[in-house]
This record gives sequence, structure tokens and C-alpha cells, in this order.
Amino acid sequence: MKFVKSKYLDMQDVNDYSVLDEAANIINNGGLVLFPTETVYGIGANAFDDEAVKKIFIAKGRAQDNPLILHISDMEMLDEIAENISELEYKLMETFWPGPFTIILNKKKNIANQATCNGDTVGVRMPSNRIAYELIKRANVPIAAPSANISGRPSGTNIDDIIEELEDKVDYMINGGETEIGLESTVVRIIENEIVIFRPGRITKEDLLKVAESVNIDKNIMKHIANDEKVLSPGMKYRHYAPKTDCKLVYNPDNDKLVEEILSIAQANKNVLIVCTTENIEKFKEYSCIDMGSKNDLLQISHNLFSILRDIDRSNANLAIIEGVKAEGIGLAIMNRLIRACEL
Ligand code: TXA
Ligand code: MG
Repeated sequence: MKFVKSKYLDMQDVNDYSVLDEAANIINNGGLVLFPTETVYGIGANAFDDEAVKKIFIAKGRAQDNPLILHISDMEMLDEIAENISELEYKLMETFWPGPFTIILNKKKNIANQATCNGDTVGVRMPSNRIAYELIKRANVPIAAPSANISGRPSGTNIDDIIEELEDKVDYMINGGETEIGLESTVVRIIENEIVIFRPGRITKEDLLKVAESVNIDKNIMKHIANDEKVLSPGMKYRHYAPKTDCKLVYNPDNDKLVEEILSIAQANKNVLIVCTTENIEKFKEYSCIDMGSKNDLLQISHNLFSILRDIDRSNANLAIIEGVKAEGIGLAIMNRLIRACEL
């Protein structure tokens, strides 16, 4: 099948979901489709088509050992890809699907090898975004999809940010407007009947504690990881979300000290940009600033985060100083992304 390169479907203006048949057809014929989810945009391919999935790794420049999440639209699809599912795993899926929640399960043998990097496990998610959901349903296969970005760059949360990077690399693009959440899904795995968070997201530790008595956070979430270190989820170890500009993350629970620290770094450097909360922006008025949102509305900050990381590069600053937030609730996900974005 010959594809029309970068055909663009604007779902913001279309309410008729049957038009997604064309995109589903491209998935079924081995093509790549860029589509919105409630978290970030994804680059999707038929998870059972190894040749198509290979193209995703090439398009993103993604490491060969970093498996993809398989997106499903119903529980029958789950049965095709995962097995030996425990009661706790079912309970989590029932509670958080469809939604921004990915669970690592035992993989059914001999399927989706390229997407899972030949591992024994498979990451699965049922998205709630209507376009994503209808696309999977129409394709009638699990769709393997990483976040829409070149590996290492901030994930794409709106089509304008993504177009310049990925237009030439996909066969079809669906514009669904800005994604609602703005951060990728929470990734968990059950180890010895306990929940372990591999990647924090909108489904927080506190949310998970409503389903289980204890929830563990992988120790690697908030620290730097060397590339040769062994981790349970490969995505943790790669430099991520990073603007090209040098960035420095500053956090102190005492706001006066936080402001002082930011100002002293700003004074010691030339051509700085300060990315700060609405509450503090007045204090930095001598400098160029980006308002990341109110520290009392971390959902707004998470929604803005990846776009702001891209805006940093548009500013031509030599150094961006980024104000951190309390690593609690969704704040943990925000800080995890900021730590990775500020790594060198
Ligand atoms: O919200 C999201 O999850 C978005 C949208 C498109 O659904 N997708 C996404 O995919 O963020 P990606 O590929 O950028 O991140 C997937 C993460 C990586 O950190 C990867 O290492 C981890 O999930 N992962 C996937 N399968 C895994 C597995 N079998 N075992 C351990 N970690 C896995
Ligand atoms: Mg990603």
C-alpha cells in the first residue's frame, strides 16, 4: 500500500468518528499514525506487525531495549497479549481503565516481539481519549505507541509542537487539540503482590492506595541513573524531556530560600530565563520569565509542562532556571520529568 504522506485529520472540527476508518486502515496496512490520547500524543502502529513497529523505533531514534506500551480498547484484546493475570492486577485495571494508567503484565508467548523488545512482559493501557479509543477499536488490533517525540525530547502535547519534529516520519496525523493531562501515563508493575510505580503520572500513589494497602515507588524515579545501570523499566534510564538549552532545577520547601537560590543563580549567569510559579513571578521581574502556573494547581502545571520545556528553546536563553514543586501527588510526576529534563 502506498501512503499519502502526512495526511492530516483535524478532529477538533470533525465529530464524525467514522472518518477514523482511514487512519485505522493505515494501521492495518503497516503504517504509522500520530494520534492524541488523554496524556500525550502517541506514534501508533499495529503491535502485531514487527515491521511496522520497527519503523516507530527508527522514527524516534529510540533505544532498541526500550519496550512500547500496547494500547487496547477492550478486555478481549488484553487476552490476546497478556496471561496469568492476578486478582490485584485485574482490580487495578478495573479501577483505572480507561485512563492514564499502564500496567506491566506477563506477556503471552510469541507475540508482539518487536514492541516488547523480546521481553517476557508487556505494558498495557486502555486510553480514555475518544479518538484514541475509537482508532484502536476500528483497527481491531492493539496499537503499540510511544510518546510522540524524538527520543530524549519533551513529549508532544499538541500538534504544533510535534509537526516540525515528526511530520516526515509518520503516514497520517490526527489533530485532537491539546491533550488534557499533559504528562504520560503512570506505569506500574506488581512485584510479589505489591504495587511498584515505575513512572509517576496523573494516577498518583494516593489514588493507588485506595486499591491496595501499600504502594512502592521505584527508587530510580527521583535520581540520576547511569546508562549501564540495570533498571526494571528501561525508559527510566534514558535522558528525557530535555530542552536543548541548559536547564537547572531548583527546589526548596521554604519559599523565601527558593527565591533567594534562584536569584543567586540568575545573578551569576548571563542571559537567563526563569520558569517559575505564578506566585513567584513578581520577584523575578528583572529577568525574562515563563509562568508555569500556580503552585496550588499542579494539574495546570502538569498540563503546561512539556510545552514550556519546548518554549525554553524558543527563548534563546543560555540557561533556564526552573522552579520545582513539592514532590507529592501529581507533583511527584512533575518533579520526575523536571529532574530528567535538567540532566546533562
Ligand atoms: O501516556 C503514555 O503512556 C503515552 C501515550 C502515548 O500512551 N505513551 C508513552 O510511551 O509514554 P513511552 O514509550 O514514551 O513510555 C513507555 C514507558 C517507558 O518508560 C518504557 O520503558 C516503559 O513504559 N515500559 C513499556 N513496556 C514495558 C515493560 N514491558 N516493562 C517495563 N517497562 C516498560
Ligand atoms: Mg516517551
